Formats: sequence, C-alpha cells, structure tokens
Amino acid sequence: MLKIELNGKSKEETYQSLLPICEHLFECETHWLPVFCNFVALIKETFNSFSWVGFYLVKDNKLILGPYQGKVACSEIEIGKGVCGTSALKKETIIVDDVNMFEGHIACDENSKSEIVVPLLNDRNILGVLDVDSYNYSNFDTIDKIYLEKLCYILTNKILKLNYKGI
Ligand code: SME
Repeated sequence: MLKIELNGKSKEETYQSLLPICEHLFECETHWLPVFCNFVALIKETFNSFSWVGFYLVKDNKLILGPYQGKVACSEIEIGKGVCGTSALKKETIIVDDVNMFEGHIACDENSKSEIVVPLLNDRNILGVLDVDSYNYSNFDTIDKIYLEKLCYILTNKILKLNYKGI
C-alpha cells in the first residue's frame, strides 16, 4: 500500500515525490480508465489548494468531461473556447492567475480564482486536457507547469500502452 507523506516539503519536492508514486500507481493497471481516475485522486489529495482536478477528453472535435474530483462541472467545451478549449487548440499549457481576466473563461464554480490547463498530447495529436482550478488567485506557476506536464507525460504514455483510442 502506498503511503503519501508530503507534509513539510516544498511544492517542488512534493511534485518530485509524486513522479515515482505516479509511475508505481499505474504499474499494474490493465485498463486506461482507472489510470485517469487515480491520477486525479492522487493530485487532488496531495494539494489542498487545488479545488478541482480533472480531465476533458477529445471526442468528435469537442472536449467532453472525463474523470475528475471537485464540484459539478460543464460537460462539453468546444475546442478554442474557455481556458480548456484554448489549451487544446494551441496544444500548450495555459496558466491563468485571475480567471476574471481571461476572456471567454467558462465559470463552472464561481469561487474559482485561478487555473492551469495542460494538454495531453500524443506527438502533436491532442487527446484531451488536464484542468486544475484553485480558490486562490495566482495559485499556479512554472513549477506547476513543469511537473504537471511531466505527470501528464507519464499518464499519456501509460494510457497509450493500454491502447487508449479515445472515449
Ligand atoms: N474554467 C474552464 C472550464 C472547466 S471548469 O473550470 C472545471 C475553462 O474556462 O475552460
């Protein structure tokens, strides 16, 4: 049984601890769905400042709500719309310090103040996005970007090995 003890560590140290935990967590998985679900749980449980953690997955050129933890959220987002759709279109990570300042931001929870969205890429093909929200302004920085991208890379490799072809 994995024991996650991250108290007293810096954010970067916490993320560094998460990388092998994440690899280990996925080792025995035989289907891609629990990989998404446990990834979300691992990240949500680790960081108290993350209010919503989840995936939007590409289906028929739209983003469909996937495994997540947090409050009820919108079920579909068009590519190019909101922070998630913009990240999917540009195929790059977007950090929003104040969601009110992002034109077209889609508010699923009115208490959400900042957000980071990381694309899931298979070469240059977009599979979906990881969306993380916070009730604090400017909660996300380059450390989150670097490590959430590394974690998403681990996840993407695993789901592709498990023959993920989309939802
Ligand atoms: N804020 C996102 C929508 C998803 S929710 O935050 C869970 C956006 O603007 O794309």
